[in-house]
Amino acid sequence: MMDRVVSSMSVSASLCLILVFYRLSRVSSNAEGDALNALKTNLADPNNVLQSWDPTLVNPCTWLHITCGSDNFVTRVDLGNANLSGQLVQQLGQLSYLQYLELFSNNISGRIPNELGNLTSLVSLDLYLNNLNGPIPETLGKLQKLRFLYG
Ligand SMILES: *[C@@H]1O[C@H](CO)[C@@H](O)[C@H](O)[C@H]1NC(C)=O
Ligand SMILES: *[C@@H]1O[C@H](CO)[C@@H](O)[C@H](O)[C@H]1NC(C)=O
Ligand SMILES: *[C@@H]1O[C@H](CO)[C@@H](O)[C@H](O)[C@H]1NC(C)=O
Repeated sequence: MMDRVVSSMSVSASLCLILVFYRLSRVSSNAEGDALNALKTNLADPNNVLQSWDPTLVNPCTWLHITCGSDNFVTRVDLGNANLSGQLVQQLGQLSYLQYLELFSNNISGRIPNELGNLTSLVSLDLYLNNLNGPIPETLGKLQKLRFLYG
């Protein structure tokens, strides 16, 4: 009887731990992997520069062209001159620690998403030499650290 109680307690304790770890890993990092994967699925990538972008990994920090800070949050996306076509996605606005978004010299079309105005850490947004159109979102005007902006 005592044995049964103990073992069922330890089973539910391990279940709790598993749940806690699962939620921590989802919340702290893979939301960012999901956001970047949304970008990947929206782009044509004839040179396979996004091949290492595997959304089933615990976070995107090991993907090529991605840099993370010490807390495993994405700080840079470096995809200049990568022969990418397609459109940007609003999910990029979820990369709260992003400082550098480098997408110059591609074939990206459509509008710049208003949601990029949520990137309060953004220092550099390089979008020159693409086929973007539409207005530059007013939301970008509130980004105080942003130093470079090329529509
Ligand atoms: C870019 O992709 C196109 C196909 O969409 C291909 O024809 C062209 O060779 C690529 N250019 C470079 C520089 O890789
Ligand atoms: C550039 O993008 C347009 C529209 O998405 C596409 O039709 C065209 O094939 C692309 N050009 C190259 C060189 O990839
Ligand atoms: C991000 O920006 C959009 C449009 O500017 C806004 O509607 C949305 O509420 C923002 N999301 C967050 C999480 O701040």
